[in-house]
Amino acid sequence: MLLAMTASDMIGENLTDEFLTRADYERAAQFIATKTKHQPTIGLVLGSGLNALADEIARADVIPFGDIPGFPVSTVAGHSGALVIGELGGKTILAMRGRAHYYEGYSMQRVTLPIRALRALGIGTLIVTNAAGGISEKFHAGDLMLITDHINLVGMTGANPLRGPNDASLGPRFPDMTDAYDPALCDLARAVAREAKITLREGVYMMLAGPSFESPADVRFIRLIGADAVGMSTVSEVIVARHSGMRVLGLSLISNSLAHSHDKVSHEEVLAAGASAVPKLATIIKGVLTRV
Ligand code: HPA
Repeated sequence: MLLAMTASDMIGENLTDEFLTRADYERAAQFIATKTKHQPTIGLVLGSGLNALADEIARADVIPFGDIPGFPVSTVAGHSGALVIGELGGKTILAMRGRAHYYEGYSMQRVTLPIRALRALGIGTLIVTNAAGGISEKFHAGDLMLITDHINLVGMTGANPLRGPNDASLGPRFPDMTDAYDPALCDLARAVAREAKITLREGVYMMLAGPSFESPADVRFIRLIGADAVGMSTVSEVIVARHSGMRVLGLSLISNSLAHSHDKVSHEEVLAAGASAVPKLATIIKGVLTRV
């Protein structure tokens, strides 16, 4: 059997230019289909500190990432990697409890293989979440932000998950990124938040490669070029999801402010903020699922 990949398995391979194909995605999808009785229609990616949301999924089948052919396995604390497939908000969903990151050493195509596998399983709607550093002065730790657009800083310099041969049966060579964050899903999230009296901020998310946090000069640059929040994930997943025709909703938890605090950022702080914001995020996600 083909096992999931860890980055160290790939040492010696060219990590930047690994080109996967439909066969890789279908192999993963077929394996997942044999391990669950559910037929999920909505995918949910849970970011740092947000894994607790997966505990609310009923009648769950749990599949460790490490069992799934080709899946990248996250080695980062707070990212206990598994698929949790079951029912939430009246819908059959597939949650990724954790995700692998580019900074762990995986190629962009390996990082985004799970999104392709979800698509191959028939999932047409994707909800992505992450923990992010606040760049906007309006944001404070613990806030939730609806992602209305993104800046693909890593991809602009070449590390785009679509780099390499394009399989036209998966999506177009030059996919459009206007309205990448589905306007109707954004409206739904706004309505759910309003009714639940949860403050939902909005803004542009920028992806950096990480893993080092931003220097004060990085933060000034990031603000200058138009980002409201910054993190180390999500954008490559969204590009692949849009390439394959999925509708996307994105939510960031502002786990720390890079605008207000002169304190140093730590991974522990990111995880703690995530845990305390889970109830608010759960309310919005369940509300969206119920009405989507
Ligand atoms: N910077 C980058 N990524 C992050 C941060 C941050 O401050 N917080 C959570 N993810």
